[in-house]
Amino acid sequence: MALKIENTLKRARALRRLPGSDSPLELPRMVKDAMAFLLERFERHGPVFKTRFFTPIVFLIGTEANKSIMVTRRTEFSFGRGYGITNANVVFDGSIMLQDGAEHKRTRGMLTPAVGRLAVQSSGEQVYRIWSDAVERMAAADSFDAYQGAEHATFDVAANTITGLDLGPETDSFRPLMHTIIGGMMAPVPYRIPFLSLDRAVKAREAIIDLMRPKIQAARRAEEPPGLVGLLAQYRDEDGTALSDDEIGRHLILLFWAAYDTTASASSWILHTLAYRPDWQERLREELAAVPESDVGLLETNKKLKQLDWFLYELERMYPSALFFPRVAIEDIEYNGHVIPADTPVFYSPYMTHRDPATWDQPNTFDPDRWDPDNDRSAKLSHLVGFGGGPRLCLGRAFAKLQLKIQIYTLLRNHRIEPVPRCVPKVQGVPVHHPTDSYLRLVRL
Ligand code: HEM
Repeated sequence: MALKIENTLKRARALRRLPGSDSPLELPRMVKDAMAFLLERFERHGPVFKTRFFTPIVFLIGTEANKSIMVTRRTEFSFGRGYGITNANVVFDGSIMLQDGAEHKRTRGMLTPAVGRLAVQSSGEQVYRIWSDAVERMAAADSFDAYQGAEHATFDVAANTITGLDLGPETDSFRPLMHTIIGGMMAPVPYRIPFLSLDRAVKAREAIIDLMRPKIQAARRAEEPPGLVGLLAQYRDEDGTALSDDEIGRHLILLFWAAYDTTASASSWILHTLAYRPDWQERLREELAAVPESDVGLLETNKKLKQLDWFLYELERMYPSALFFPRVAIEDIEYNGHVIPADTPVFYSPYMTHRDPATWDQPNTFDPDRWDPDNDRSAKLSHLVGFGGGPRLCLGRAFAKLQLKIQIYTLLRNHRIEPVPRCVPKVQGVPVHHPTDSYLRLVRL
């Protein structure tokens, strides 16, 4: 008991010495304008500062900090405990997000071939069909909201490719359940209380698993395991034990969430940015003109599409899908002359690091040409962390990039995209970073 009190006091003293504020007003200030909040504190306090989102949190910012958290000193930080302080602890119980060490390695080893199946040509063709329909819908409307348009199409893609649901009524019945799960992630009360958001999210998760059960069981019996569900259904560990329906369902729901929310954000930034950059629409349209429709599923492996790559790197730099990601310090951590006490949540931030003038020339300017290797001030890919890094690098990066490239191909092939005159777009920072009130229209070429 005395030791516990001693440790609590030691922790409080160490936290007090860190720059920043742990006032309870920090969270409402952050929610009001997350981007301004983060940049202001980074400018004022430098690369190590504390704040409070329910509990005190320390931000470590900059390319060195990212490398330490994700690679060189990663054993000092727990990924699983980081997500464990969020509602993922309840909503995504039993998933890779709450794991570390050998347990994580095993799950990642199991999910990697299944997710790898998504980034292949045949699934690219499925994505192309979905995005072609989405573009037709956008073109038929007088105008559309960038985020809503992107969100609808990326939901269909995730439902169809990850969970193997049919488009139309089956996917539509899944939509409110998945939104209830995502709502649970943001529930202000982190406990399961009947009828409140977190309880509803867990019930929605169980309902989705029930919806998936016949598909999982059919995939177990199939000779050729169909898609991602099939690979998980026929997976055997080294003792020959299969995953239960419930385990498969939980992995699928986690993959769905990881894929959909993030890609919806990136995809909405594509729509918004292209609309305001007709020069880049032209450049990309010209580059993509050489790609026949039959090769859309190979866009991610086509090394000739340099400008498309630069455009997407720059999009990831300026508009990462999430502004920050959590870890927990496993032990007392000395960093840059500061001591971060054990058990403190420590966050890294793609948003702040990608706008750090110590790393980037004119960080607030959207300039895809900075990725041209022939350019003197060429930017370094190793400084981009929009998909994380090290052994926890995003498992779905190749598939996400494939979808974003297909989206651009489909959009620019027959249309010009432009903002609706006099609309005043804004930006939402949390839980996912995306433009709001960005009304656009497609004009047939
Ligand atoms: C534009 C789209 C995407 C973005 C920006 C993105 C971003 C990220 C980031 C930053 C992480 C690391 C989080 C951390 O360090 O705390 C991550 C992890 C992960 N992502 Fe993605 N992601 C995207 C799409 C996808 C897709 C399509 C899938 C699956 C099909 C996926 C599955 C995962 C999984 C399973 C992890 C956890 C990996 C592990 O812990 O080993 N993501 N993603």
